[in-house]
Amino acid sequence: MTARVALAAILLFFLASAPGAIPAQGPAPRVIEVTAERFEFWPSEIVVAQGEEVELRIRSDDTMHGFRIVGAGTNVLIPKRGKGYAVTRFTGSTPGRYTFECSRMCGAGHNFMRGVLVVRPAGGDTR
Ligand code: CUA
Repeated sequence: MTARVALAAILLFFLASAPGAIPAQGPAPRVIEVTAERFEFWPSEIVVAQGEEVELRIRSDDTMHGFRIVGAGTNVLIPKRGKGYAVTRFTGSTPGRYTFECSRMCGAGHNFMRGVLVVRPAGGDTR
């Protein structure tokens, strides 16, 4: 190999591995589709890994509902069927179980319309 070819190879190596060659953002969050329908969310249990960011896309199969994650500051309105969906992101920073619930009066079962977000601890604990 001539010195010139070696230099070109080294340059190529650095260009390919330079931080600028890779998008600066992390991977896109995992998308989880959620359906709201009187008086349930499906799935009613959503499991994420600690540190994982997920994007929740929540649509209704009937009327307007709300989606609030208790204690997380998340509260979005879910448009009625056929009018699109609500989008919100959640990062499982701390392991535990986080209740989510409907935040818009939608009928007799409104108070029972809830589910749980489970954040599994990093490091293999499979509780
Ligand atoms: Cu659904 Cu309140």
